[in-house]
Amino acid sequence: MTFDLAKIIRPKIYNLEPYRCARDDFKDGILLDANENPYGPTQPGLKESGLNRYPDPHQIEFKTAMAEFRNGENHDYKGLPHPLAAENLCLGVGSDESIDAIIRACCVPAKEKILVLPPTYSMYSVCAHVNDIEVVECPLITDDNSFQANTDEVIRTVQRDPSIKLVFITSPGNPTGAKVETSRIEKILQNWDRGMVVVDEAYIDFCGGSTAPLVTKYPNLCVLQTLSKSFGLAGIRLGITFASKEMARVLNSMKAPYNISSLTSEYALNAIRPDNLKIMKQRANENEMEQNRLVKELTSLPNVHKEPVGGLDTNFILLKVGSGDGDNDLAKKLYYKLATESGVVVRYRGSELGCTGCLRITVGTKEENDTLVKEFAKLLSQLTSN
Ligand SMILES: Cc1ncc(COP(=O)(O)O)c(C=O)c1O
Repeated sequence: MTFDLAKIIRPKIYNLEPYRCARDDFKDGILLDANENPYGPTQPGLKESGLNRYPDPHQIEFKTAMAEFRNGENHDYKGLPHPLAAENLCLGVGSDESIDAIIRACCVPAKEKILVLPPTYSMYSVCAHVNDIEVVECPLITDDNSFQANTDEVIRTVQRDPSIKLVFITSPGNPTGAKVETSRIEKILQNWDRGMVVVDEAYIDFCGGSTAPLVTKYPNLCVLQTLSKSFGLAGIRLGITFASKEMARVLNSMKAPYNISSLTSEYALNAIRPDNLKIMKQRANENEMEQNRLVKELTSLPNVHKEPVGGLDTNFILLKVGSGDGDNDLAKKLYYKLATESGVVVRYRGSELGCTGCLRITVGTKEENDTLVKEFAKLLSQLTSN
C-alpha cells in the first residue's frame, strides 16, 4: 500500500496556498489592514464586544484542546505513531460543511464518485449531487440487525471502480444507531489506497471509542465530529475534521478564511474546558439511561417490534411498528398523529433500506420521554384497534 495524497486531491486544490492576512503577522496596534469598521457594531450594547473585528482564521487554541481531549480518551490505540495535534484538525460550519469540503477536495465533477453505505445520513449524497458527483451504494448488513459495514463488498466495489474516491461510513450510524466495528474500518483502510475513508462520528460520545487518533496511522482516513450532538451546541455550527497533517493542510487551505465566527469560537472553547467536558460525559450517561427506559417501555407495546432496529450507540432509537416486516402506512400515520395531535415530533424513516415501518426517536428529557411514551401508546392503540 502506497498512499499518495497528491494523487487523491484535485491538483489545483492540492497546490492551494492557505489564505494569509496581515493579522497572521501582526495582531496588535492600530488595525487598518482588513477594512473593518473602527467604531464597533451599530447596536449600542455590542460596542465593546470586538465583533467589528474578523475572527481568528486558525482557531489553534480550540484545535489543541480538542486534539488533547481525543488523545486522552485513546485507550484502545496505544502504539500509534503520534498523538493528535492541532495540525491534524480543520474546523467547519458544522460537519455538513466538512462533508462538502472533502467531496470538493477529492472528486472531479461529472467524472468521479463517492461510495455510501445505506441506510445512512443523506447529506453525503446531497453534497455529491450538488457537486455533480455520482453516488455508488454498498448497503450495510441489515438481515442480522447488526447494520455493520459489509467490508469485503466495500473493498471489492472500490477496487473494481477506480473512479470512486471517497467511502463515507457513519459510525455510530444514522438512522441505524450502530457503531461500525473499528476492525472493519481498518480492513478497508489497509486494502485501498486510491481514495479516502471518511468516518462520520457525529454521535461518538454516546458510545466512545473514536477512530480520530487513527488518522496519525492511516493517511487515507478522515474522521468527522461535531459539537451539535453530545456537546449540545447545534446552534453554533461547529464541525471538526481529523486527518493527516497533509490532508488537514489541504482542507485548511481551501476553506473560507473566517468560516468560524468569534461567537462560535467563544462557545466552543468554553465547551472543551475540563469541567464542561465532565458535564458532557454525565449527560451522555443520562442519555443512555433514558434511552434504555424508552426502549423498554415502547417495545413492550403491542404492534411495536420487540427489539429496536440497529444499535443503541447514539442519542436516538429506531423502532419498527406493524406486523411482519413492519408497516410503513402505520408508521406514517403514527408520525403524523404524534405531531398534529400530541405535539411530539419524531422522524419517519420507513423508506430507508432495512427500515420498513421505522420511526427514529431522539431521546429527550425525562419529562419529554414520559409524554412521548404516553402519547405513542395511546395513538398506536387507536390506529390499530379496528
Ligand atoms: C451522521 C451525521 N453527520 C453529520 C450531521 C450534521 O452535523 P452538523 O450539525 O455538525 O452539521 C448529522 C446531523 O444530524 C448526522 O446525523
